[in-house]
Parts: sequence; structure tokens; C-alpha cells
Amino acid sequence: MGQKTDAAKNDTIKNDALQNDAVISVRDLNVKFHLRGQRLHALRGISLDIHQGESLAIVGESGSGKSVFIKNFIGLLDKNGWIDSGEIWFAGQDLAKLKDEKVWRKIRGGKIAMVMQDPMTSLNPLKTIGWQIAEALKLHQGLAGEAAKNKTAELLSDVGISLPETRMKQYPHEFSGGMRQRVVIAIALACNPEILICDEPTTALDVTIQAQILQLLKDLKEKHHLTTIYITHDLGVVANVADRIAVMYAGDVIEVGTCEEIFFQPKHPYTWSLLSSLPQLAAGEEELYCISGTPPNLFQTIQGDAFAPRNPWALQVDFLYRPPYFEVSPTHKAKTWLLDPRAPKIEPPAAIRRMMELGKQPQARAGRKESADAK
Ligand SMILES: Nc1ncnc2c1ncn2[C@@H]1O[C@H](COP(=O)(O)OP(=O)(O)OP(=O)(O)O)[C@@H](O)[C@H]1O
Ligand SMILES: [Mg+2]
Repeated sequence: MGQKTDAAKNDTIKNDALQNDAVISVRDLNVKFHLRGQRLHALRGISLDIHQGESLAIVGESGSGKSVFIKNFIGLLDKNGWIDSGEIWFAGQDLAKLKDEKVWRKIRGGKIAMVMQDPMTSLNPLKTIGWQIAEALKLHQGLAGEAAKNKTAELLSDVGISLPETRMKQYPHEFSGGMRQRVVIAIALACNPEILICDEPTTALDVTIQAQILQLLKDLKEKHHLTTIYITHDLGVVANVADRIAVMYAGDVIEVGTCEEIFFQPKHPYTWSLLSSLPQLAAGEEELYCISGTPPNLFQTIQGDAFAPRNPWALQVDFLYRPPYFEVSPTHKAKTWLLDPRAPKIEPPAAIRRMMELGKQPQARAGRKESADAK
């Protein structure tokens, strides 16, 4: 009986995933870690669809669970962690239950590739750049010899590295930080993935190079028909590259919407705080809205809204009950009791009110997005 119900539930989720063109459908995902005899609840019931061909940014402060979340898509959760409950539907199977390492190896790289923050950790210092790309081509596309060499050169020029024939004979230490990140991207592309995940791909780089890498990723996404997921703690970085933004706090996605919705009609006080902390939004002498306090201790059970103790607008209900998603539009939802029709109407901070006003003017809107991106 219990099994039947589970099967029926899985069917519904699967149909749902197929109908809404989601490439990955995450449902009520709970991930925990064992640490020093205690349990840490890192992901607290995340549900999120990632759509075919979109560019999704996952934003949140350090420790909010961004990396843990996406590690589940490639089956690389740290050894002391486990999926306590929930589903991750991808290509007709539930990755949350997938234990077969052989199948994982096909998915990892071959279907879902990842670019990490520090390119040096993904590159082998003892092998030439060309060898490392060719190895990925051999493993994932079965290419060898001349064909692999030609494809390596093509990929290197795809990621903006000139003189690929010379460059492929060099070692990682002969490349600058930005160039190494380009090589890591070329290796990811050599796997011919459907989904490219970039975990803080530009934090180790200076601002100009950062902008170039983001532009490169944007161009490659179009050329290779990729679905891309960017992980970052900086909303400014994603303003011009993301179609949608998911905001994470304390192991949950507390607001998700199109880039425009998150920038110009944000609803969650935590999203307000993230936006207000963008230097380009500060206006002269005006009071700055910054959040005080620290994120909750994930070793302890959290009652109510995890953001309540830091939320200047917290209602009584926030300390007692966890808010569900309230739908703002078909593409926009947020977990805050402020969206409950019974909640008092409150004024967002000045910087957010200004953004909302700007959002009503299409021209200014485009300008603001550019200025946020130009950071
Ligand atoms: N192997 C682990 N063992 C115990 N706790 C872990 C482990 N990996 C992550 N965590 C905890 O899970 C939570 C989420 O961590 P995660 O690395 O996903 O954060 P993040 O949002 O990626 O942060 P950052 O922006 O700093 O990369 C944190 O509280 C972190 O301490
Ligand atoms: Mg991280």
C-alpha cells in the first residue's frame, strides 16, 4: 500500500517534470551531514525546477547550501553527507536514489559538467593543457589521435585562447588565472554536456577578467545549446547572464523568479538585503539597509522562518511557523509570511523602492541591469 502510494507520487512528479520542460526537477530535498557526533541539516526541503536551455543563477551568502545543492546533481556529496529524503528527477530517473557508480560516471561530465571556483584544483599541473582536454574527449566523445587534436584546438579557440596549437603543448602554470578558467571550461565542454554548472566561476579573478569569463559562458551557452547554472554570492554578477534567479537562505530556496522579478519586484526581506548590499544601488547619504546577525545554526532544529531573527519586518507568525511558497506570478514565488493576504502592508527599504520604481520604466530597467552587471 505504502509502496503503491510512493509509486503514484513518483509518477506525478515525473509527469510534472516532463510537462514543464524541466531538465532537473528537485522535490523536497533534505540533505544532512554527520559532523563531530552531531547532525547538520544542510538542505531543508528544496523544491526547484531547472528548465531546458535556461540560465539559472543560484544566489545566497556563504553557507546557505549552494554547493551542497548542486553536488547532488553529479553524485559527489561529501562522504559524511546523505540525502535524507526527496527526489531529483533527471532524464527519467531519480538521482536521489541512484547508487550505481557506473551510471553516475556517465552522467557526471557526460551530461552534467561542472566548472569549479579555483581552476588549479581541476587541472593536473603535470600534464599539458592539450593532454587534459584530449583525455576528456577520449572519455566522453570517444575521440583519439588527429581527431582529438583538431577538436582540442577548436575548443581552445572556442574559449578564446589564441594560438591553440602552441598553447595545447603548455602546462597550467604557464597560463594566467583567467586563461586557466577558460581551459577548465574547455574541458567541461569536451565532455559535450547538456547542463553546465559553474560554482563561483569568477570569484578568484579580477573584475575585468570576471566580466570576460561571464560573457564567454553566455556565448558558449548559445553555441552549445546548454542549460547553465551559475552559483554565486554576488547578485551583481548575474544581472546580465541569468534568465532566472533562485535565492537561497539556510538550506532552502526562499525566493525564485525571473531576473527582472528578482531585481525589480523582490518580495523576500532576505532578497532585499542582498540587493541593498549591491554598492551600485546605494544612493548618497541615504540609510543603508544591512542585515545584522548571523545565519541560523543548522545543527539545531529551526522553528518558523529561518530568517526571522535577522528580519526587521518579522511578524509573530515568523517565529512559529515556516512560511510556504506564496505565488507572486506564474514564474515568481517567495517563502515569506509578508505575502499572506492577512499580513500588514509594509514598505521595503528605500533602495528597493527605488528599484521597483525603476522597474516600471523599461529604458531605465535595461540601464540598471547593465550597471549592476558592470560592477
Ligand atoms: N562535508 C561537510 N560536512 C559537514 N557540513 C558540511 C559539509 N559540506 C558542507 N557543509 C555545511 O553545509 C552548509 C552548506 O554549505 P555549502 O558549502 O553548500 O555553502 P555555500 O552556499 O556553497 O557557501 P560558499 O558561498 O561559502 O561556497 C554549511 O553549513 C556547511 O558548513
Ligand atoms: Mg560553495
